[in-house]
Amino acid sequence: MTFKRHTVTAALPYANGPVHIGHLAGCYLPADIYVRYLRQKKEDVIFICGSDEHGVPITIKAKKEGITPQQVVDKYHKMMGDAFREFGISFDIYSRTSSKTHHQTASDFFKTLYDKKVFDEIITEQYFDEKANQFLADRYIVGTCPKCGNPDAYGDQCEKCGSTLSPNELIEPRSTLSGEKPVLRKTKNWFLPLDKIQPKIEAYIESHKNDWKPNVYGQCKSWLNQGLQPRAMTRDLDWGVKVPIEGAEGKVLYVWFDAPIGYISATKEYFEQKGEAAKWEQYWKNKETRLIHFIGKDNIVFHCIIFPAMLMEHGDFIWADNVPANEFLNLEGDKISTSRNWAVWLHEYLQEFHDKQDELRFVLTSIAPETKDSDFSWKDYQARVNNELVAILGNFVNRVMVLSHKYFKGKIPQGKLDTALLEKFEKTHQLVSQSIEHFQFREALFEAMNLARAGNLYLQENEPWKLINTDKEKTSEVIYNSLVLTLHLAYLFEPFMPFTSERILKMLNIKEPLVLKNLNHTLSAGHQLGEAILLFSKVEDDVIQAQINKLQASKKVENTTINSENTALKADITYDDFIKMDIRIGTILEAERVPKTDKLLKLLIDTGIDKRTVVSGIAEYYKPEEIIGQKVSILANLAPRKIKGIESKGMILMAENADGTLSFVAPTNTEINNGSVVR
Ligand code: MF3
Ligand code: ZN
Repeated sequence: MTFKRHTVTAALPYANGPVHIGHLAGCYLPADIYVRYLRQKKEDVIFICGSDEHGVPITIKAKKEGITPQQVVDKYHKMMGDAFREFGISFDIYSRTSSKTHHQTASDFFKTLYDKKVFDEIITEQYFDEKANQFLADRYIVGTCPKCGNPDAYGDQCEKCGSTLSPNELIEPRSTLSGEKPVLRKTKNWFLPLDKIQPKIEAYIESHKNDWKPNVYGQCKSWLNQGLQPRAMTRDLDWGVKVPIEGAEGKVLYVWFDAPIGYISATKEYFEQKGEAAKWEQYWKNKETRLIHFIGKDNIVFHCIIFPAMLMEHGDFIWADNVPANEFLNLEGDKISTSRNWAVWLHEYLQEFHDKQDELRFVLTSIAPETKDSDFSWKDYQARVNNELVAILGNFVNRVMVLSHKYFKGKIPQGKLDTALLEKFEKTHQLVSQSIEHFQFREALFEAMNLARAGNLYLQENEPWKLINTDKEKTSEVIYNSLVLTLHLAYLFEPFMPFTSERILKMLNIKEPLVLKNLNHTLSAGHQLGEAILLFSKVEDDVIQAQINKLQASKKVENTTINSENTALKADITYDDFIKMDIRIGTILEAERVPKTDKLLKLLIDTGIDKRTVVSGIAEYYKPEEIIGQKVSILANLAPRKIKGIESKGMILMAENADGTLSFVAPTNTEINNGSVVR
């Protein structure tokens, strides 16, 4: 199937925080490279994005900061839009889901499905806060995690052990709004019956078995194998798109229902602004349009299953032809985390690395998590910039420019195209196109860099700086060919490093847009070149060290906050409360790591009463072999808990230092018997 036009979308980022390198590497850069490539080929393409401004986290953030949700999204919408623009992410429109057009579009979409009787109306019991007089979204409920005992697990997830939860699993739930125990109340919501739609989705996914990335297809299959469940498309919440039917007061559309419709709304706005209001339909309803969603892997189910199901049931729309989702980018070996400030923020990078957007674009594309998670480190950033951008691409272009000015007064000399080079150009364009069309941007970038390598080799072999003394004609030829090669580089690197490409064209003094098939004939003898400027400069050690220190500092801040929480004295308890705890002295008999965890050790403890298994989060501080025989204090009557599938009975008492270091709380007299009572 050949397509007449392309609708390319990049996931609408949540407007509750700034953008970091993980976002860029995972979604926005690959999307931008792809679109720039299509534009080079003069394809008809629109590139759509905007801020995702609904959902519970935004309301929580607003409450915390004492401002309105609208104020939260206004702030981040601007910040994200600015960062994308400065990094050259070339959206045709960057819209937002709080826009009027979006509310109307999402509302109409819902109404269409409702009128077609697509939804199941289901009454469920949801937690309700009687004091705050509202239903509680999962994130508004905290309680004790049934899996690890963390007292502050959220209704949807425990951040300590990573388990996915539902609010009714929490032990002793409480509302984060009032602190009160919530009550269960009946409420009606509208569910998308994914179970019934499953066969259609299956056929759709199966039809893309061979053209979707294996990680995407695989994740879809695993959802399908588990069997799809009906999913609520409305929520009892007051921030979002109002549910447009009677009897649904106080309810809004589920954020994952309205957000992807945001792609459609933004397309409408784009064409409205261009004065071609009706044209949006071609990009969403015409079978000759190729719809591509760029996203991160946490978005796969929404873009490959739920959104297509919505579109199918609606009936008017095309479905995505591809969803090239990426895996995650880590930072210095750790998961990027907004709450722990473990991230490189784009707005900070822009301030600290002035005019070095392409350096980051280059590094992030080189290490893009295309098939598996990958890692960004500052040392690697430095090495790639210095060894590739400075030493290969920058060096080649600079030498060519300097030699042209020195030997030919900056005028392009006479020359004939070298056939070996011509072949190389052709081959490179072919490889780069192929890779980009398969969403293999790392590979494409590597091939482009290989042409710069070939350029350096060409200079090395011909040594124009020597040749100039013996053979002026041959020198002309070499410089001419090197300039043509430079032009090819400007073209090839444009999707990846648009600013660099622009600078090269400025040096070549080329003002018209480049056309691939004319590249070999664009530069003609006598054409006056621009001034030579340095494309890249070396990144020094101290700059890198400063970044590493900055990250380390955010780790320290994290520890001190934990510490200050720890040092605040808890509320008084009675003696009776205290003696409820049965604390005993015991000895560690055996210790081993819990597989696939970093922190957990499985211990066998002699408590004097019995020998029992306890799972303890001390693996980062103690090696199993060094604690055999260690005396410990154990809270022996803590209700047993399953941790990573292991039944853990009791808890080892540890003292925690401000920096997070742990130490056993043990008797000073090691002769004391196991089973001795601590009080
Ligand atoms: N806001 C979501 C995220 O950041 C992505 C939404 S994509 C859309 O994970 F399709 F819903 F728009
Ligand atoms: Zn937990």
